[in-house]
Amino acid sequence: MDAGNRNRLISVNKGLFRHPAVVGAGAAALVALLISNAVAFMRGLDSPWLLGTVIVADMLVIGVGVLVAAREVRTAEHGTALVRNALEESEARLAAIVDSAMDAIVTVDEGQRIVLFNRAAEQLFRVGRRDAIGTPLERFLPERFRRSHQAHIEHFARTGVTSRRMGDVTTLWGLRADGNEFPIEASISQAGLPGQRYFTVILRDITLRKQAEVDAERMRTALTSTQARLAAIVDSAMDAVITVDEDQKIVLFNRAAEQVFGVPREEAIGSLLDRFIPTRFRGAHRHHVEQFGKTGVTSRRMGDVTTLWALRATDKNEGSEFPIEASISQAAEGGRHFYTVILRDITVRKQYEDDLRRSQQELRELSARVLEAREEEKTLIARELHDELGQLLTALKMDLSWLRERVVADAEVARKAGEMDAMLDQTVSATRRISASLRPLMLDDLGLADAAAWLVDEFAKRSSISCTYREFGDGALDQLAKPVATTMYRALQESLTNIGRHSSAKNAWVVLGVEGGMVSLEVEDDGRGIAPADIAKSRSLGLKGMRERVTYLGGSFEVGRAARGGTRVRVSVPPQEKP
Ligand SMILES: Nc1ncnc2c1ncn2[C@@H]1O[C@H](COP(=O)(O)OP(=O)(O)OP(=O)(O)O)[C@@H](O)[C@H]1O
Ligand SMILES: [Mg+2]
Repeated sequence: MDAGNRNRLISVNKGLFRHPAVVGAGAAALVALLISNAVAFMRGLDSPWLLGTVIVADMLVIGVGVLVAAREVRTAEHGTALVRNALEESEARLAAIVDSAMDAIVTVDEGQRIVLFNRAAEQLFRVGRRDAIGTPLERFLPERFRRSHQAHIEHFARTGVTSRRMGDVTTLWGLRADGNEFPIEASISQAGLPGQRYFTVILRDITLRKQAEVDAERMRTALTSTQARLAAIVDSAMDAVITVDEDQKIVLFNRAAEQVFGVPREEAIGSLLDRFIPTRFRGAHRHHVEQFGKTGVTSRRMGDVTTLWALRATDKNEGSEFPIEASISQAAEGGRHFYTVILRDITVRKQYEDDLRRSQQELRELSARVLEAREEEKTLIARELHDELGQLLTALKMDLSWLRERVVADAEVARKAGEMDAMLDQTVSATRRISASLRPLMLDDLGLADAAAWLVDEFAKRSSISCTYREFGDGALDQLAKPVATTMYRALQESLTNIGRHSSAKNAWVVLGVEGGMVSLEVEDDGRGIAPADIAKSRSLGLKGMRERVTYLGGSFEVGRAARGGTRVRVSVPPQEKP
């Protein structure tokens, strides 16, 4: 039979014996027996059957009474054993829970002696429970806290509160068996009656947490000082720095920004950035910032291609615009997006740039005018030499031959006249050469193609460098505007002169033509090649002059190392003069 069934049976029997009807019946039977006894004793041996019956009945009642009493005693013993078992079981359960707890659990009696010391407590205080139990709790408290701890416990006992957190305000400290102190967090509870009270402390080592708190505090302090430093830098920056949130509301506005926009930061912060952007750019600006936000790029220059404009507050309502240079960066902070624009007013720089550009243009025009005037002068002299002087020399030659025919008698005079004739021939050819080198009249009379071919031919003859000349463009070379033809001719002339003077080349190639709406010239040699330092020589003007002329006409000029190893000059110019 199992314990449950036995318990039930016992309770049934007990119930039966204690039932009022059974108790009443028993009492009535006892009264009847007592009356029977009295009657039997009075009658005595006169009624031996009555006496015998009563004695037998008495003995039966006594026997039953003994049996019932014995049974009650056994039942009571059994009940006590069951209760004890249940108690032991629950104590074991409790002990297991206490022992498996992560926190240290220490119970002390009223004398502050340890009566319970779980596994976590063993680990925390570095002592086995065998050594701990029975010893005073204060061994686990640093000396300086022992007195106050005692007072606290006594006070807690008096309050009658069952449990509370300890050391709410200050840090509590524990002492390990090896003498090391460590910070703890603890709660205390009490149970039992005065004189038999137990206090249980549940505690945990918070060294790591304290360390983390210290680290966090240090980082907070470092962050605060970094922020302060950063704020000082931003404020002392020469450029205006403005930070806006996602709604384009200003959250940072440095001192330079105050000066650039003429607005105090108190007034700027919280307002929309739009107030500093000319109305016609506002939509585009907002769109650009949104696009930039989507790119995920952290920073970039704004308005790479066009000039950006900003709006300055003035006394009058409309404000004044000024050009700026700006960069933008973005950062997310606490789930929000911020954009920082760093900008500077470039009014003065732009002014300088415009002035510089203008003066460069003026210089270029001046130099073009000078070159043009030189060309005109050279043309004039070349023509004078060719036409005027050439005519006169021819007339002189004719006169001389007339004279020679008439002075044949005098041999001496005839010889002299022959010498004069030879000298006249030399003078004519020198005049032609000088005239052509000043400006070949065929450039004006026949066009660029013939003049270029003649120039290459002459160069080949004089320099003994083998030259290959090729032209293309079906006569388009003869339709060029005069300044274009002159520029191309002079570029070819300078390139050939350079080959003769610097290259030590054996071969040269010249290609001239009209292609893709541009007149192009390419002169290449197989000489020693050209280095960047050569091009930059300050005293050399040939290539610089070429570049200047070409740029003035809106063309492009290139000089560098050719594929064959020598030098290559490339010029390309629109065929008509700029309007
Ligand atoms: N075809 C070439 N091969 C090698 N080096 C060259 C060639 N053309 C030019 N150079 C180098 O480039 C330099 C600059 O040439 P550039 O024509 O500008 O001036 P330059 O010929 O020295 O003097 P000038 O002002 O009289 O023309 C030359 O001094 C020379 O060192
Ligand atoms: Mg030169």
